[in-house]
Amino acid sequence: MAGCMARSRALQPIMLLITSSLLLLLCPASSNDAAADELALLSFRSSLLSDGGSLLASWNTSGNGQHCTWPGVVCGRRHPDRVVKLWLPSSDLSGTISPSLGNLSFLRKLDLSGNHLSGEIPPELGRLSRLRWMDLSDNSLQGSIPAAIGACTYLTGMDLTSNRLRGTIPLQIGAGMKNLAHLYLGENGLSGEIPASLAELPSIQLLSIRNNRLSDSNNLSGLIPDPIWNISSLTVFVVQYN
Ligand SMILES: *[C@@H]1O[C@H](CO)[C@@H](O)[C@H](O)[C@H]1NC(C)=O
Ligand SMILES: *[C@@H]1O[C@H](CO)[C@@H](O)[C@H](O)[C@H]1NC(C)=O
Ligand SMILES: *[C@@H]1O[C@H](CO)[C@@H](O)[C@H](O)[C@H]1NC(C)=O
Ligand SMILES: *[C@@H]1O[C@H](CO)[C@@H](O)[C@H](O)[C@H]1NC(C)=O
Repeated sequence: MAGCMARSRALQPIMLLITSSLLLLLCPASSNDAAADELALLSFRSSLLSDGGSLLASWNTSGNGQHCTWPGVVCGRRHPDRVVKLWLPSSDLSGTISPSLGNLSFLRKLDLSGNHLSGEIPPELGRLSRLRWMDLSDNSLQGSIPAAIGACTYLTGMDLTSNRLRGTIPLQIGAGMKNLAHLYLGENGLSGEIPASLAELPSIQLLSIRNNRLSDSNNLSGLIPDPIWNISSLTVFVVQYN
């Protein structure tokens, strides 16, 4: 790390032109960051009520980057002690999703689909600036979709199908997520109108908002915003049962 800092100083005039995120790529992650990843994972585990038996039994405080060997955890090639993938689909997990996941700053893929997770989607997930794919479908998540999620600008796919989400579709999804290609929000209890901002997603290919009728009084209503018909990238638009 010290050598890396020195190199940064020598290259200062050039570095000034380079964003801090590129600096992060050039400098190896410190062990502090690895420890923060481990802490975040342990905090995630402690907010679960059950982990479907003993799947997460080896998620314990062993230290020294052992967290990269834990089931469901994949670390990076260039940053071998940083978590890039948390992959625990259909693992019989129950409990809530800890806001600490927002501390896994190298995370690119998150799959917690097909579990029994409840509680709200933590807005802290919006801090995952490298996130490409997020699948929280088939759980019992409640509350509204946090507007902060719009800050995940590299997200290409988000699947929240089949939960108990309520409230409106946040405008921030259209305004922020410039790489979003697949968006699944169906089988929830979302309400209000379909925001025209969804038409601002320049890469959107598949948009499913079907069946947002958790209860009789709840559904997406109003008109389909005209600009949606003009999205040239859109190939699948699923909107029935609203
Ligand atoms: C997550 O990061 C925040 C701010 O950096 C810190 O205060 C908090 O303790 C961290 N939580 C966990 C569980 O790592
Ligand atoms: C911690 O995990 C290791 C495997 O990574 C396992 O061998 C050990 O028994 C676990 N310790 C506890 C206290 O569960
Ligand atoms: C859908 O929502 C609208 C507006 O809230 C409401 O008037 C309508 O009754 C709902 N329809 C169904 C079938 O739930
Ligand atoms: C859709 O595209 C057509 C042709 O380019 C244009 O005339 C029309 O104004 C557009 N409509 C909206 C709602 O953007």
